[in-house]
Amino acid sequence: MSKVTAIYPGSFDPPTNGHLDLIGRGSHIFDELVVAILRNAEKVPLFSLSERREMLEGLTAGFKNVRVDTFDGLTVDYAAKVNASAVLRGIRALSDYEYELQMALMNRKLRPDLETVFMMPAEQYSYLSSRLVREVARLGGDIRGLVPEMVERRLREKLDSQNSSTRKTKAGRA
Ligand code: PNS
Repeated sequence: MSKVTAIYPGSFDPPTNGHLDLIGRGSHIFDELVVAILRNAEKVPLFSLSERREMLEGLTAGFKNVRVDTFDGLTVDYAAKVNASAVLRGIRALSDYEYELQMALMNRKLRPDLETVFMMPAEQYSYLSSRLVREVARLGGDIRGLVPEMVERRLREKLDSQNSSTRKTKAGRA
């Protein structure tokens, strides 16, 4: 039987325990899983592409059939480039479904032989998103258990450095 490669595309800004949960599940059912970080020119991310790549590489080092890459352009074109026959996406709640269905059907229109496979993360991560993690961390809330410890530390360092450069700018203006 031929090897089945899947891509798991996303922004991963930052990677959460929900992402890792899905990577673990995906690594069990696919022969190879490529975690593909989108180089999105429109959004200004909190973590640079290389920071996100480095974090994900560290976090997935224990999975022998998982690798991390970056891409721009269409997901379907990237999937073709790496010979992937499936796109892995997580569905947390019903609210994800409409957007994910639209994306999956558009991707199918663009490349009919590429299947989207939806998986559910563990229940305790069903409300978790990178956007909420960034917001809670920025406002001083506790994000323990929502992201790996390494990401928690990197978030704290990132927000501290942003706060100190804001203070310096304000002091310069005063
Ligand atoms: O983690 P995210 O931000 O929800 O991931 C969204 C992602 C990267 C899967 C989506 O924005 C995407 O596929 N972008 C690449 C451009 C593309 O193919 N657009 C058409 C999708 S139907």
